[in-house]
Amino acid sequence: MDIYINITYIIAAVLFIFGLKKLGSPASARQGNLISAVGMLLAVMATLLTQGLSFQWIAIGFGVGALLGIFSARLIAMTAMPEMVALLNGTGGIASLCVGWSVYHYMPDNDLFTSVTIFLSVLIGGVTFTGSIVAWGKLSEKLPGKPILYAGQKFVNIIILLGILSCGVLYSLNPASSYTLFIIAVILSLLLGILVVIPIGGADMPVVISLLNSYSGIAACAAGFVIQNNILIVAGSLVGASGIILTQIMCKAMNRSITNVLFSGFGSTGSKQSTGIEGEVKPITVEDAFFILEAASSVVFIPGYGMAVAQAQHTVRELAELLESNGAEVRFAIHPVAGRMPGHMNVLLAEANVSYDQLFEMDDINPIMETMDVAVVIGANDVVNPAARHDENSPIYGMPIINADNAKTVFVLKRSMNTGFAGVQNELFFYENTRMLFGDAKASIQGLVAEFKD
Ligand code: TAP
Repeated sequence: MDIYINITYIIAAVLFIFGLKKLGSPASARQGNLISAVGMLLAVMATLLTQGLSFQWIAIGFGVGALLGIFSARLIAMTAMPEMVALLNGTGGIASLCVGWSVYHYMPDNDLFTSVTIFLSVLIGGVTFTGSIVAWGKLSEKLPGKPILYAGQKFVNIIILLGILSCGVLYSLNPASSYTLFIIAVILSLLLGILVVIPIGGADMPVVISLLNSYSGIAACAAGFVIQNNILIVAGSLVGASGIILTQIMCKAMNRSITNVLFSGFGSTGSKQSTGIEGEVKPITVEDAFFILEAASSVVFIPGYGMAVAQAQHTVRELAELLESNGAEVRFAIHPVAGRMPGHMNVLLAEANVSYDQLFEMDDINPIMETMDVAVVIGANDVVNPAARHDENSPIYGMPIINADNAKTVFVLKRSMNTGFAGVQNELFFYENTRMLFGDAKASIQGLVAEFKD
């Protein structure tokens, strides 16, 4: 039987890898999800063929899990997806902790390798669980989003980590008589998860969640070694590696290092105002903006966090269709960290049925930006701030941006002159070719739609 189980595991692993590959593009992401799900179904079915399983417990777990999965997938709004992912990471972490703990509970006298893997699955699983719960609390605003900082914070965290590692070493050398040390390591791991996430600001939670996602994979991989299950090792490694890659991509797109995200308490010192911006702000009315758009033959929409706040995506799609029927070529420029979660803009625009081939990544739109008649910035701020290109004193210096300022005319749709996530004023708003269309993004776009329909 083992040979059939392992062959099925290999097929499942191949499907996981194909699925991940397809998740790389919005156009093939649904297919990728389905392929991975089929892989997981095969893996679960093969695992159920293992000798000596207790099927009544599996049935209960399956029933409860399926019910929770169906209800949460149906009830959770698309905008609450990051919170949902945080909770799912947390359950992955606690599952690995439970696997390690139960194996130790039933077989306390293990060899060194098994003891080390049990310890790792408990340590990483524990940190992932409580860290994810805090991240969920911050994202859903059940906990304060501001970084919680205190003197000696890093020192305290290092002492706790050293305490856990000491317990782990002593336990691994003599597992049979180290139950108390093991329990102390469990408690300290749970505590460490809370303490490492509280100093991180709410707005950095997407990066933290991506990192915790990676941890949950590593914990699952360790649990796979504990119970010697090959597919758990493979799936855990894939989650671990892809989580780290996503974290890296997000940090690079924000031009920040992972240590800066984890340890700087970004967002705790209030807004910074950059000085010395020259030029004047030129507001525009919906009517005047309409005349310019009506004459445009190429328009690029640059959505940002404000489009998500205003829930303007459906109205934006309607305006895009009206512009197209008026003869304009319409594109959407997507910055990798626009909004507050990976793929935030892609998700919103997909929900509004914007065609994938109208979406342009930053590196594809920037070289042709000069040919655009109008760039319509919808609630985006940091991701179009030209200071990132040249102002070495700016906190966002070096962050790759969408060069909206290179378009012939720029409309910026926002409610006020308030700063965005990074807390810096945007010099684009003062440029000669920029016009500010103040107001809620959805209301402004609705106004433009009404003008086109008149
Ligand atoms: P932001 O720079 O945060 O700017 C959003 C702008 O939207 C604000 O200036 C705000 O101005 C405007 N706004 C809010 N509600 C609005 C409404 N109802 N109608 C119109 N405008 C509205 O957003 P961005 O350009 O998308 O940049 C994202 C930032 O988040 C980057 O700094 C990025 O590094 C950071 N970040 C992103 C991620 C991911 S993964 N996406 C993760 C962590 C951090 P008003 O208040 O004046 O309206």
